[in-house]
Amino acid sequence: MTFTGSKRLSQLGSAIFSEVADWKREVMNQGVDVIDLGIGSPDLPPSNRIIEAITKAVRNPAHYGYPTSEGSLAFRETVARWYRYRFGVDLNPENEILTLMGSQDGLAHFALSLCDPGDLAIVPDPGYPIYSASLVLAGVEPYLLPLRSEHNYLPQLEDIPVDVAAKAKFILLNYPSNPLSAVADRAFFEHLIAYAKKQDLLVIHDLAYSEMAFDGYQPMSILEIEGAKEVAVEFHSLSKSFNMAGCRIAFLTGNADAVKALKTLKSNIDYGVFGAIQAAGIAALEEDMEHKHSVAGVYEKRRNVFISALQDAGWIIPPPKATMFIWAPIPKGWTSRQISREMLYRAGVVVIPGDAFGAEGEGFVRIALVQDEARLIEAAGRIRDWLRTIE
Ligand SMILES: Cc1ncc(COP(=O)(O)O)c(C=O)c1O
Repeated sequence: MTFTGSKRLSQLGSAIFSEVADWKREVMNQGVDVIDLGIGSPDLPPSNRIIEAITKAVRNPAHYGYPTSEGSLAFRETVARWYRYRFGVDLNPENEILTLMGSQDGLAHFALSLCDPGDLAIVPDPGYPIYSASLVLAGVEPYLLPLRSEHNYLPQLEDIPVDVAAKAKFILLNYPSNPLSAVADRAFFEHLIAYAKKQDLLVIHDLAYSEMAFDGYQPMSILEIEGAKEVAVEFHSLSKSFNMAGCRIAFLTGNADAVKALKTLKSNIDYGVFGAIQAAGIAALEEDMEHKHSVAGVYEKRRNVFISALQDAGWIIPPPKATMFIWAPIPKGWTSRQISREMLYRAGVVVIPGDAFGAEGEGFVRIALVQDEARLIEAAGRIRDWLRTIE
């Protein structure tokens, strides 16, 4: 007997990522020392204080019962203090903060908690893949909002058809952005909140990269905009900001009704984050409030080194202001998939084809700065040598 997955499963777009993983395996099996700049998983450990907090907490027998699905009050109170410290935003830990097992957990379930099958939601193209996948899982129709370089990758809200805006349950955006590394300023967020109020639309903002910004730039929370909580929620994660991706801890903030919807769904699905990890999360946020503990410096240096090495190789890429990613336009005559494959088979460097993030990503590859400077220079050197062979 054979069992095939559901129709929904076949609509999920993970195929490109598995294809790249297959290529990588094949090249590694040939004995090549592959430099992986594919998945955006931080290569650095969390701070000592975070590791000490988790080590101490795992010895505490109190953490071995089921945790609560919304997270401990202590963690949510610390999040509220951090939001006030970092963004000047006041949040009620009782009903405006929900602890999550990574923001992926929240993003995957959000549509399910808020929409019915046949509803419509607006998601960016290119966009982080779970945005569209979560709609597939919930039977929600996507409206793909194109993000293009000529508009600095900001959406043209006025171009959204009126019937789409009227029917959509939410609009999801992400600045600083994965994969685009694009950023949005206060004027844009003000415009977005005004638009959402006018259209009766919930805004979901994914702020996974708020602490990874360069050249003095400080990303903002959408909740800084006056009245934003009436129409907006924001996902935030400790994965990138504190090198805690393996811990699986994040949170949702903002509009109490939307927070409650996700909390209700999740209380039926899981029992929340392991208490020792929440203790580590508290340590991370407290340490940050005591003396800014930023990962940005490391990534800024990596960005500078890599972009300038590629420039020497003749590949000119505008330096991003934030995130761990470089969104690189590819030379004419290639598809993003062809060039990614060739870069791996000929230069031993893994990058992700832009179309993995939506049709608008064609013509680009995403490069994650998740190796140290020496490895990045080595990667750029290999790319240069390979580019010379095809000129
Ligand atoms: C934009 C964005 N949102 C959410 C996530 C998920 O992060 P996590 O589930 O580790 O919190 C990622 C991870 O790469 C991301 O890039």
